[in-house]
Amino acid sequence: MNFQIKSIEDYQLAYKKSVDEPEEFWAEIASHFHWRKKWDKVLEWNFEEPKIEWFKGAKLNITENCLDRHLADKADQPAIIWESNDPTEHHRVLTYKQLHQKVSLFANVLKNNGVRKGDRVCIYMPMVPELAVAVLACARMGAIHSVVFGGFSAQSIADRIKDAQCEMVITADGGFRGAKDIPLKNVIDDALVQCPSVKTVIVLTRTRTPISMIKGRDVWWEDEIRKVETLGLLECEAEEMDAEDELFILYTSGSTGKPKGVVHTCGGYMVYAGYTFQNVFQYNPGDVYFCTADIGWITGHSYIIYGPLAMGATTLMFEGVPTYPDAGRFWDIVDKYKVNTLYTAPTAIRSLMQSGLDFVKDKDLSSLKVLGSVGEPINEEAWHWYDENIGKKNCPIVDTWWQTETGGIMITPLAGITKTKPSFATLPLPGIQPVLVDEKGEEILGNNVSGNLCIKFPWPGMIRTTYGDHERCRQNYFATYHNMYFTGDGCLRDEDGYYRITGRVDDVINVSGHRIGTAEVENAINMFSDVIESAVVGYPHEIKGQGIYAFVILNHPSDDEELARKDIAVTVSRIIGPIARPDKIQFVTGLPKTRSGKIMRRILRKIAEGDLENLGDISTLLDPSVVEQIKNEKL
Ligand code: PRX
Repeated sequence: MNFQIKSIEDYQLAYKKSVDEPEEFWAEIASHFHWRKKWDKVLEWNFEEPKIEWFKGAKLNITENCLDRHLADKADQPAIIWESNDPTEHHRVLTYKQLHQKVSLFANVLKNNGVRKGDRVCIYMPMVPELAVAVLACARMGAIHSVVFGGFSAQSIADRIKDAQCEMVITADGGFRGAKDIPLKNVIDDALVQCPSVKTVIVLTRTRTPISMIKGRDVWWEDEIRKVETLGLLECEAEEMDAEDELFILYTSGSTGKPKGVVHTCGGYMVYAGYTFQNVFQYNPGDVYFCTADIGWITGHSYIIYGPLAMGATTLMFEGVPTYPDAGRFWDIVDKYKVNTLYTAPTAIRSLMQSGLDFVKDKDLSSLKVLGSVGEPINEEAWHWYDENIGKKNCPIVDTWWQTETGGIMITPLAGITKTKPSFATLPLPGIQPVLVDEKGEEILGNNVSGNLCIKFPWPGMIRTTYGDHERCRQNYFATYHNMYFTGDGCLRDEDGYYRITGRVDDVINVSGHRIGTAEVENAINMFSDVIESAVVGYPHEIKGQGIYAFVILNHPSDDEELARKDIAVTVSRIIGPIARPDKIQFVTGLPKTRSGKIMRRILRKIAEGDLENLGDISTLLDPSVVEQIKNEKL
């Protein structure tokens, strides 16, 4: 690919061009992709509405870029290598040719089951190659996929299905994750009680646990494949999509209420995912690239499926967890497939670090060339452990900052090119114009400063809308600061102009790299029958980065507090999913509130962090005495 940046000078030139002539810059990059018809205009935008249109008038199908165009020279190269949860189960390899065939067949299955261009399809599957096939098949025939992570509850899935009015669900009987079997189809059955829009459920066989199959609604993946094969529907011409047609919806948490459906569109997202993948990881043909994320999150969308496949890479997909059957599993996989690039999350690094070096010492990690980190701030200790014990001080670490809404990586070192600095995401990619702003929305210039991180110019991978509610998108991202996209993150810029993300400045917590809204957790806790009120904040957690700390007022303080805690945790698991279970629940008789009734989260955050001496001014509270009680009974 000749848009590859090869040196820091290349980077500086590209960066300058991207700011001086953004349209020319992106048009040049986009010209390396396959379009059925080129664009009439590269960019049209305003952040007021917001309206963001990239490559307007262009026609394409992202799967022609991810599959068809590689058939000429990479037909027999592995596109996906799959490693099972169970190390004794044989791995699978899908070459570009095989993946193309499977995606085409399954796209015909979707059509045969009544899915049409523009329909929404919910995907709730384990990390098996068929998940990638399902995602790409939707993209091929123009359906909009909405992948939901396997750790969400029936209620969360139902909320997402209803919000997007999905017509179909693709799932599996179950999924293997570590020592657990996840009953995916049962969860879907529970969710669908609330979802009349869903006409068909396609069920893949994975665990073969007994499940219900409802006549007229549920069909088996394997049977449906046989049907289209019998009909001779082996090929599926890719649907011609407009650059701004919706490609997918991915739900993520914000500071208020329900999760929102972040919408990405076909053209800009493709260009951005491909360009960033190629440059950040400095991928070379033939390299084996392993991203440990789940496809249920944006990292899996952009950097297991779309980015790597758009660039003709070999992407390794792992079904299991880093600690099963033991804490050496990632290193076994690196050794077994001679992985060249490993992209994982600080939580995983911290947890493996705690397991000790015995799990690393006999593994051959010499194939590794590049290490990546994503999802949360990486602390220096974890950074050094990763650098020394995994990279053997020989592999650049790319600490990549980005978000579901940004579609792809935004601030990051380029592997082997940008000088790294522990816990710094370093410099913006070409095309990305970060600014730090103060509370009043004034841009903070110069270095050695900190503020709220905004982006002042559009980039192709950015969010277009929140599904079904454009005003919400405006409110969330474009209303806080005039003419800027607000990230929700705090950030500092050091003397070298390097960026370090310090964490969320809104009411979102980042637990093991999973974004969780405190309001969502509060709503779930408040559904417990005896709860009067609750307040949830994050606190520093050794492994998870942040843990969930809940302050809860019960109507009838319980004799058995432990049991009450468990009941509340189970309630939260039911309403949101196990990923949102509070780590600590402290029962209190009152919450610190202002005279106007607003909960002073700042004080609760300090208490949860254990910073009891610096609570600030509490004299404006309605009842300052509650603070003493909460402090004294802190967990
Ligand atoms: O707070 C930032 C943190 O994760 C948030 C985005 O979460 P999500 O949309 O789930 O996407 C995660 C995967 C891209 C950000 O607002 N975050 C992400 N990457 C980093 C990070 N914080 C610090 N350093 C990072 N490298």
